[in-house]
Amino acid sequence: MKETVVSGIRSTGKLHLGNYYGALSNFVKMQNEYNCFFFIADLHSLTTHPTPSDLNRTVREVVVEYLAAGIDPEQSTIYVQSDVPEVAELYLYMNMNAYLGELERATAFKDKVRANPDNVNSGLLTYPVLMACDILIHHGTKVPVGKDQEQHLEMTRTFGNRFNRLYNVDYFKEAFAFSYSDKLVKIPGLDGNGKMGKSNGEASCVYLSDSPEIIRKKVMRAVSDSGPTEVNQPKPEAIQNLFDLMKVVSSADTLAHFNQLYNNCEIRYGDLKKQLAEDMIIATDPVRSRIEEISNDEEYIKKVIRLGAEKASESARKTITEVREIIGIKKLY
Ligand code: TRP
Repeated sequence: MKETVVSGIRSTGKLHLGNYYGALSNFVKMQNEYNCFFFIADLHSLTTHPTPSDLNRTVREVVVEYLAAGIDPEQSTIYVQSDVPEVAELYLYMNMNAYLGELERATAFKDKVRANPDNVNSGLLTYPVLMACDILIHHGTKVPVGKDQEQHLEMTRTFGNRFNRLYNVDYFKEAFAFSYSDKLVKIPGLDGNGKMGKSNGEASCVYLSDSPEIIRKKVMRAVSDSGPTEVNQPKPEAIQNLFDLMKVVSSADTLAHFNQLYNNCEIRYGDLKKQLAEDMIIATDPVRSRIEEISNDEEYIKKVIRLGAEKASESARKTITEVREIIGIKKLY
């Protein structure tokens, strides 16, 4: 029996190179080995009140880009969270055993309260319960998430174990974070510090769907400095970031060439950026064309989303039937 992997992504829309070279490339590789559920967490997105059209558009964008990146909708299950109402039902049940104190202590919750003090809604508070249900509904045991989601997985185990204890069953399994490949590819942003990510601002991100012209513009505007003044010095963060990006998209020769120029204090960042932009464009060209092709094929998108909903519902229906039985919710008519 293959182990079950469950991965959710909040539907904040188009994906950047960090998503692509990080999580997504691993998703593509692990499809054979695991029973994979990849879903778009549109219900989770509601905590921030997107407009209906934004919500709808961003869900579609992520589906298209997952497919373009190589997720196989036959082999894996790619679905939209709201297409599986059993998740919401399980969320209701699990909320009965999730306590205010533990929910309030969650780091992600506290961060959000600090960032948006006037939108502390109960969906935000119970975000980890819904996330637990995403995983428990398919009996997932492996969840490819980063460090920031570790605590949510711990809560998932707590909720599952508590359910088992309360009803004296051995029903839900424990899920753990996992990384398919231990070679972590670092995708820094273009803004001089940290990872590429929307939370670090649009300027830090190159999106998979960005046109070559936009990629050139963004890369040319990337943060750099006035250049090294002494030979063989370590690189400041912003410069190291450009080299790290180059490591991902350029050839080893190109990288060595610019490293040498840097070490001899002969580097011109304009040249490096030009090269980086061109190599980025070449590296992402296949996925960019696939995005364009797929997003113009409404019938195909519909077919894929319908298939995903069917496959995910089949698994979810089985769980919810069993959970109702365990809880004692039985039809009296
Ligand atoms: N909370 C996750 C994040 O912000 C998204 C998510 C929702 C998720 N449900 C999930 C991830 C279930 C893995 C499994 O990245």
